[in-house]
Amino acid sequence: MATVATIRPPTIGDVLDLSLAEAGRKRVEWAERDMPVLRAIRERFAREKPLAGMRMSACLHITAETANLARTLRAGGADLLLCASNPLSTQDDVAATLVKDFGIPVFAIKGEDEDTYYRHIAAALRHRPNVTMDDGADLVSALIFIALDRLDDVHPEVREWAAGLSPAERQALVGDVVASMEETTTGVIRLRAMEKDGVLRLPVIAVNDAQTKHFFDNRYGTGQSTIDGIIRATDALLAGRQVVVCGYGWCGKGVALRARGMGAHVIVTEVDPIRALEAAMDGLQVKPIAEAAPLGDLFITVTGNIHVIRGEHFAAMKDGAMVCNSGHFNVELALDDLARMAKTCNEGVREFVDEYVLENGRRLYVLGEGRLINLAAAHGHPASVMDMSFAAQALATEWSIKNRDKLDNRVHDVPKEVDEFVASLKLQTMGISIDTLTEEQKNYLESWEMGT
Ligand SMILES: NC(=O)c1ccc[n+]([C@@H]2O[C@H](COP(=O)([O-])OP(=O)(O)OC[C@H]3O[C@@H](n4cnc5c(N)ncnc54)[C@H](O)[C@@H]3O)[C@@H](O)[C@H]2O)c1
Repeated sequence: MATVATIRPPTIGDVLDLSLAEAGRKRVEWAERDMPVLRAIRERFAREKPLAGMRMSACLHITAETANLARTLRAGGADLLLCASNPLSTQDDVAATLVKDFGIPVFAIKGEDEDTYYRHIAAALRHRPNVTMDDGADLVSALIFIALDRLDDVHPEVREWAAGLSPAERQALVGDVVASMEETTTGVIRLRAMEKDGVLRLPVIAVNDAQTKHFFDNRYGTGQSTIDGIIRATDALLAGRQVVVCGYGWCGKGVALRARGMGAHVIVTEVDPIRALEAAMDGLQVKPIAEAAPLGDLFITVTGNIHVIRGEHFAAMKDGAMVCNSGHFNVELALDDLARMAKTCNEGVREFVDEYVLENGRRLYVLGEGRLINLAAAHGHPASVMDMSFAAQALATEWSIKNRDKLDNRVHDVPKEVDEFVASLKLQTMGISIDTLTEEQKNYLESWEMGT
């Protein structure tokens, strides 16, 4: 059987610059003011230590809000290590304060190349976690490939380390995981696909699917921060512009309705007839991407799907059109097509803006290299909304540890009582009270006898 000493990482992390810690600490404290639900959980965790004895690896966007989640998990007794879930989403000052002021190992540097990104994931695996937390399932998918002995399918940085483990150590890696939390829609989709293929070797809690997560974080959080990222990157005025939003799911609704609120004319593209109908009844234009392409001034993909905007669409766009993505992976825009079509690419005409000049002389602008624009060019979701997502993360972690013997290797929902607790506490912190059912109303809702 593997021993901890043989496979744990030797360092306390890999961050850009520890001298950024003070600025980072101020931002973490600023975010904390808007995270009262998580704060209350942290205070209880500090007393009760429900995560004591657990090694935890969390692969998340390293933001000020994530730092407050990390403090909560640490207060609960977890032996925690963090790595980035996206090469562009790390806030280097926050990474620095986590290491320097909070003593939490962090492996994340904004703008890290792919090799570094996966070397950091390898560090999270070497921590030999009992609990994992993912935003997009990159950590768990590496674990599963290793457990399946499919080392050719993992990045060379992970492969190099995993190849040095004995078969027993590789099995122990996944065998030691009690539960795995997943933060986002794309991650849940990947994990359900693993379950369907019969390769999911650990229990997963779909935190994204908690109502207090995706109703608010995906809609209001992504909605506001995506627009924020676009404005910070471009200083563009949205009023009067044609904005094309691809995907009218939870995130797409948030983005589209906020763009409309700022005076844009919004066109939605969809593949799901119900969501397309919803967009139409919300008063938005709905068109196929081929028809929207020549009309848009700004394109935003939020589908979780691949190659939603492709070469033929880029070719039809107006001079000066801007294109970006707020879905989890940078595959929604077929940027290879654009690179092939362009006679020149002027990188960094502004921070987070690359200019592609096509053969026909038109200039197209790609924001944030096609990665999540809200995290690449802005600071991600506001703390107030991450308060709920991360409260659900912390409580789901506690619940999964308590119920570890009952959890089989599939994707589980967050229990309804966790969702209701988070919502009730959030309402309380907002000074909002609601009605309770009377006995008569309870009986009425449970009976069938009374009609017209
Ligand atoms: N930027 C962020 O911070 C952030 C936050 C939360 C979620 N996400 C990510 O955003 C993506 C969307 O998440 P969601 O919760 O809105 O998912 P969702 O499933 O609710 O919505 C996705 C929508 O895209 C549509 N779609 C799929 N393929 C399409 C295509 N080719 N053209 C047009 N529409 C298409 C689907 O029909 C669906 O309605 C995911 O990748 C998710 O992980 C990002």
